[in-house]
Order: sequence, then structure tokens, then C-alpha cells
Amino acid sequence: MRDLAELDIADGTRVLVRADLNVPIEGGVIQDELRIDAVLPTLRYLRERGGVVVVCSHLGRPQGEVVPELSLAPVAQRLAEKLGTEVRLQSAVVGPEVEAAVAALKPGDVTMLENLRFEPGEEADDPAFAEQLARLADVYVNDAFGVSHRAAASVVGVCALLPHAPGLLVAAEVKAFERILVDPPRPFVAILGGAKVSDKLGVIDALLDKVDVLLVGGAMAFTFARAEGGSIGASLCEDDRILDVKAAVARAAELGKELLLPEDVVCATEIASAAETRVTAPTDVPDGWMGLDVGPRTVESFAARIASAGSVLWNGPMGVFETPPFDAGTRGVAEAFASTEAFTVAGGGDSAAALRQMGLAGRIDHLSTGGGASLEYIEAGDLPGLAALRAPDPT
Ligand code: 3PG
Repeated sequence: MRDLAELDIADGTRVLVRADLNVPIEGGVIQDELRIDAVLPTLRYLRERGGVVVVCSHLGRPQGEVVPELSLAPVAQRLAEKLGTEVRLQSAVVGPEVEAAVAALKPGDVTMLENLRFEPGEEADDPAFAEQLARLADVYVNDAFGVSHRAAASVVGVCALLPHAPGLLVAAEVKAFERILVDPPRPFVAILGGAKVSDKLGVIDALLDKVDVLLVGGAMAFTFARAEGGSIGASLCEDDRILDVKAAVARAAELGKELLLPEDVVCATEIASAAETRVTAPTDVPDGWMGLDVGPRTVESFAARIASAGSVLWNGPMGVFETPPFDAGTRGVAEAFASTEAFTVAGGGDSAAALRQMGLAGRIDHLSTGGGASLEYIEAGDLPGLAALRAPDPT
């Protein structure tokens, strides 16, 4: 993959920048700005070189229909504030009016297209739609790591039509994941959490080949506890995945890898801050009670592994961290993760949100902007959007 610096950008070069500005918005207010902040260096770089910057992104899943609530207007406004320049939002994604508006821009100007997924051609990777996008620019930059696992027109299709390069964010994401997945400083410890083990089976499989230690927390640990024959009360469990989980445990043993499950969990009968809690073994949860967090002994043993690691990858919270006191496990692991001397990479989504919420994000070596994308990258070792960037420029 070439460097952004190798892309020819002179005064007035029109640059189509695919960003992942799919940010949580409530009542018109952006709840997490990580993805906006992460794309700023690339936008600044392009403006400094006199590029005419055409930013495009999706927001939510409007499935090819115009859904006014999923307009990128709040994002364009916040981006303008952060860049300190006007960012005019186009009223459409493509078409003659957008082409005319882009043609009227001057070096250093920034504009934004409306939500790419308002157009059915985006997710279908329709060549005609990719062509309409390509008409808006001279060169293409993918700075949308978070959506590079989707073979969409703005991620893959357009690469075949314009000279292209990764943006600074995509380059940094690839570098961090390569460091941890190709030749990680050892011991390499991975921490997986989250609700559903079904979402993580492929990642567990891929990681078992690479890690020295795999720490499993979150509700997904209860499918493991059930697989051991334990009583898990009303805790979340995916019964149809028990065989897969048993296979993963057996594979870890075969490979001589340590797969550590929680020793203790915090249980309650409801997800409420005022709920009465008990600490039990994950295999000994009383009827009607559910495990909502890892317990203090688990935090201690996970923290010890993290402290002595050479590199640590973390994806998924340890419990229902949005509702205290069930945030304590995630908090304890997050603190160990932020304090270790090891090279640290956090997957996007909930783990990145937890680290930011806890004020620890600045102490992590790499905080990924990709949720699904980072999991797929770990699992498959590549992403469609990255493969497209490696393909030669059109002639
Ligand atoms: C994400 O939030 O993970 C990315 O923006 C991709 O969104 P998607 O899952 O709707 O494709």
C-alpha cells in the first residue's frame, strides 16, 4: 500500500475522502467524537497542500432510502468547528448539482456529501454509482478504517476508478494491527469480552494461533461456563454455540495456549444500579440471578497477565459497564490495560467507548476506530477496503 505522501496533490486537486463518520447521535447531539477527531489529520494535510476536499461517509443504516434523521448535517457542523473552516453539506450524495458545487470550490475548501447510504448503489458496490462518485474528484483517499470491511462503492468500487492512497488514520490502524498480529512483543495477551460469543468465535479461532494468553470476560464467558456443565442462572448463554465453545477450549489446550475464564462474577436479579449483588463462581450462579460483571478476583488475575505482557489487544467490555456497579470489572481491566508497559491496542466500539469514558484513552498506544472492522481484520488478516487500496491505480 502506498503512502498518502505519494499521491499527487497540488493546488486545486479534488480529493474524495472516504471517512467513517458513523457516530452516535442523540437528539442532534454527537455522543462520541473519536471518529471525527481521528480523520482531522488527513483533512488538514490535504488542505495544507491545496486540495479541494470532498468528504463522504455513511451514517446508520438507511438502506438506500433518504432518511432525514440520518442526515450528516450535525457531523458536517462539528467537523467545520473542529477544522475552523466552512464545511458545506451537499443536499445530495451525487449528481449534476453536487458536481457543479464541487467544481466551484477553491484550494483548501472542504465540502461534505450527504449520507452515502441514502443511495442504494453504495452498499451494492454498484459500478455506476462508483462512477458518479469518481466524477467528483481527481484522486481518492480511504481514511475510513471502520468501514473497510464493507465492499461498498465508496470503499472498493471507487478505488478502481481513481488514483488512490490510504489516509493517515488507515495507515496508523494498519501499522498497529500489523505490529500486534504479525510479530507481537511477547507474551501476547488478548482480552475478549462483550455479550455474544457467536460474534467472536472466528476471532477466538484466529487469536488462538497468535496469542500466548486469551482472557475471556463479559457475558460471552457464560457460554463457556455452561459448556463446562456449570449452573449459570439467568445469565446470557448461546446454547447453540456450546459445541463451538468446547471446540475452542480443546483447541487452546492442543496448542498449549492459556485460555482464562472468569474465576468469579458479580450477579444480580436485574440490571439496575440499586440492585442487590452477589459474587459467585460463573459456574455457580443461583436460579433467577444473572452474571453482569467479572468479579474482583478475576480483575486481579487478568490485571497480573496484562501487567507482565509484551503486547495486549482488547476487544469488548467485561460486564454491563454502562450501569454501575457493573462497570467495576471493565474499569479494573481498563486501568491495568492503560498502566501496562506493553504495546496496547484497543478494538473500537464498546472497549474504545469505555476507555474514553474512563479518561484512559490517552494512555493506550492505539485506540482503533473500527468495531466490526477490527474484528474482521484480526480474523481474516485483511479487509476488502485495504485490498482495494493495494491494487494499482487505473491507467
Ligand atoms: C461501524 O460503526 O462499525 C461502521 O461504521 C460500519 O457500520 P455498519 O456496521 O453499519 O456497516
